[in-house]
Parts: sequence; structure tokens; C-alpha cells
Amino acid sequence: MLLNKSESNAHTSVGAQKVEGKDVLESISSEKHKSMTASSGLLVRQQAESVLLKKEMESKMNLPKYMKLMEARAALPIAKLKDQFLGLLRENDVIVVCGETGCGKTTQVPQFILDDMIESGVGGFCNIVCTQPRRIAAMSVAERVSDERCEPSPGSDNSLVGYQVRLDSARNEQTKLLFCTTGILLRKLSTNKHFEGITHVVVDEVHERSLLGDFLLIVLKSLIEKQASSGCHKLKVLLMSATVDANLFSRYFGYCPVISAEGRTHPVSTLFLEDVYEKINYYLPSDSPASGNFMLSNKEKGPKGSSSVNNRRGKKSLVLSSWGDDSTLSEEYINPNYSACSYNTYSERTHQNLKRVNEDVVDFDLLEDLVCYIDKNYPAGAILVFLPGITEIDLLVDKLTANYQFGGPSDWVLPLHSLLSSADQRKVFQSPPENIRKVIVATDIAETSITIDETGRHKENRYNLQLMKLSSSHT
Ligand SMILES: Nc1ncnc2c1ncn2[C@@H]1O[C@H](COP(=O)(O)OP(=O)(O)OP(=O)(O)O)[C@@H](O)[C@H]1O
Ligand SMILES: [Mg+2]
Repeated sequence: MLLNKSESNAHTSVGAQKVEGKDVLESISSEKHKSMTASSGLLVRQQAESVLLKKEMESKMNLPKYMKLMEARAALPIAKLKDQFLGLLRENDVIVVCGETGCGKTTQVPQFILDDMIESGVGGFCNIVCTQPRRIAAMSVAERVSDERCEPSPGSDNSLVGYQVRLDSARNEQTKLLFCTTGILLRKLSTNKHFEGITHVVVDEVHERSLLGDFLLIVLKSLIEKQASSGCHKLKVLLMSATVDANLFSRYFGYCPVISAEGRTHPVSTLFLEDVYEKINYYLPSDSPASGNFMLSNKEKGPKGSSSVNNRRGKKSLVLSSWGDDSTLSEEYINPNYSACSYNTYSERTHQNLKRVNEDVVDFDLLEDLVCYIDKNYPAGAILVFLPGITEIDLLVDKLTANYQFGGPSDWVLPLHSLLSSADQRKVFQSPPENIRKVIVATDIAETSITIDETGRHKENRYNLQLMKLSSSHT
């Protein structure tokens, strides 16, 4: 540690009253000596660690379990670009990596760097920090990567992978690949303004523009420019995303190279509301909270009865419809988006539902029936339901746990939102016992790292400053 003038003065006055002149110089040089000894000690430790890591890697290569995992990793689209990527990384300080969802950016790219450094005999010097926009992504990706490496859980002995998020951290001295939130990396700046000791910063999901994310990019750009002119500490920066405007980020970082991977898509079938109505033979009662008539009749009653989230079915209409007497129901409301000729092949019941439905209200009865239908009719696998906010999530979770199909000792109807503790968030990644269906009811937090292009309608809650309350918006 180099002492500045005020620190050396402090030493003369406080540390030793009689120390003056020559003694001060001796004291300074002994401090320098100590720091040089410490840094050479660190160097020796990192060199020894590099040798050990290389040996461990070589013996791991022969483990059947590791070989199988390597095969699966090699089948990911990003694996084809590994050599090209590592070549570009040697020549450049910044690279943009884009590739479609599931191609292996988050789990593989940081491992390419780590494995390459270990194989080159410099693994002990590796210190990769990979930022994720949300803490649940940081924790789950760290777990996944340590599994892929046949290592114990992140942050434990003999694991090179760790994570750090607000109020929770699993890392130790051995951690070489840390997944953390953007906020955590920025906090390091207060004590380490040049990211000293960090070899690579990987900014994942860079398209998710936020105040913190943009600030991090400004800091990284300035660090890269400074190091280019001074030629000292060599930090490498990687920007990754599935939907990134690669040229925008490349231009910002002085036209850095862009590498693109193909996607790996899973078959997805899309069912629209009318298809769901048909499939489960759903009946939307006229006095259901999700029907337009319910809204109209509550408007007449005034604000007291205008709650849009109501946990009851339209009892009166259910009784009437069972007598086949739909004509007695008031039918003043007609869904403005309903057009009979668009649904020629659909049943009369579906037409009635589409005419009645108020598309601005979540139909919790429909969701309950749909989840039960999938549970009864489809093979094993989890069900993921997206809802706009915590109130809606709690309501559906309550409805499902009260349902005989999911009720009882089963504890696998799981809410997922940002206010849950890390331990509760982690539960969604555990596997349920056999014959138990896991249902996750989530906000779009679950979309982090599993980018799903928005299709159809998106409803979200936002704080309205003018009204001073939460309101829902549709896009
Ligand atoms: N927790 C997990 N459990 C099982 N398989 C996983 C898990 N995480 C990732 N995978 C598998 O690894 C592959 C690569 O995932 P990865 O998250 O690296 O992709 P990505 O390119 O970052 O996708 P995205 O753009 O959605 O973030 C996925 O296609 C998936 O098959
Ligand atoms: Mg990803």
C-alpha cells in the first residue's frame, strides 16, 4: 500500500511520537515491503491454485457424469461458436453476444471463459462477474452452472461458482464465477472503483434497460477507455441478450465485434381464449366478475360494489343456465371486440361467453378450471401461470389450494414474485414428489432468463402518481 502525505503524517504523530526523518522513510518502505510481500504472496497462491484447478479439471474429464453433461452442453447452439468466441475475446476488450432464447448464453458463455483459463493454466487468476437483472435469476443460474460442472452447491467448498444478491450470498475465496444483480456489482464500485481483480464482467439481459443497468454500461465504457490508454489492468466486458439491438451496443463500445448464435426452440401451441372456452367447455355466467354485466350493475350501485377482483362465481346465472333459461338474464353488455362471423366454427356457449366477457378483468374461475383441466388431462410437468400482481397471485393460489384437486397436504401451488424471500423463491426450482403437480403462479419475474416474446395481451400493475394508487394497464 502506498502511503499518501496525510497518512505518513498520521504515522509520525500517532503511531510513534519519536519517529521522525529517517525513521519515517523506514516506516514507509516497510509498509511498501509488506504490501509487495502480500501481493507476491497472492501471486504465489494464484499460481498454485491454477496448477491445482488444471489437475482437477483433467481428472473430472474422465467422470462419466461430467462427460454426459459435457455432451449436453456441446449440443447447445452456442457451443459451435466457442472457439470463435474465445479467439475474439483474446483480441478485444468488449464483445456483444446475441443468440435466441435457450441457445446457452447465460449458462455457457461464462463457463467458456472459466474453462479456457483453467485449461491454459491461469484458472487461479480468473474472476468473472456475471450480472442478472433480478436476484432469482442470479441464484438459479448459479445453481444450474454448478450442477453442470459437477460441483457442490454455489458458495460451498470445492465449488468455483457463487452468487450474491441483496440479503443473500453464497460465495467464498475459491469463487471464480459469481452471478450477482446489477446493484451488487455497482456497490463494489464504492470500494473498488477500477474493478481491480475482476477479469471479466458479463452483463446479461443487456436489453432490459434500467437506471442501474445503463449506469453500469457508462462505468464499464469509461474503464475500458482508460485501460486502453494506460495499458494496465485488463478488464474484459461481454454484453449478452436474446433480443438485443446488437449494433446499438456495439456502436456504444467503439464498434466492438458481435457474435450471434442460432436458437433452440421448443414446440409451443397457442390457444386463444375461444379455444380454451371450447376445450374445457366453460360457461361464463352473466353475473360473474369477469362479465361486462357485472361491471355495469356495479357501476349502477356505485363505487362500493366496484371491486374487479371478486372470489365468487356467478351463482344466480349458474342456477338459471342449468334450467336452460338464459333469456331471462339481462344482456345489455356486449363485448366491443366480439364479432360473430370471426367464430363460425365455435359453439353457441363460446359465442355467449365471448359476447359477455369483460376483457379488462382476470377471470379467476376460468383460470382455476383451466389449471384443473390441464392437471387431469396432461402428462407430468409443471404449470406456470402469469398474473399482473401479488393480489391476483394470492387470489388464484387461495382458489387452487381450496380446490379438492390441489388442496390437502400438497404444498406445490407456489406463488412467485419479487417480494418473496430468496428461500421461498428457490422452492419453485425443486421437484415435487411423484404424482404431485407443481403449479407456479408468478408475475413476469419468471420471465427473466427465459425470454418469452409477448404475444396477445399483457396486463400489468403500475403506480399511478396522479391517482396515488396502483392501476392496471393493458398493452
Ligand atoms: N435450471 C435448468 N434446468 C434444466 N435445464 C436448464 C436449466 N437452465 C438452463 N437449462 C437448459 O440449458 C439451455 C441453455 O440455457 P441458458 O439459460 O443458458 O440459455 P440462454 O441463451 O441464456 O436463454 P435466454 O435468452 O432465455 O436467457 C436451455 O435451453 C435449457 O435447456
Ligand atoms: Mg439467459
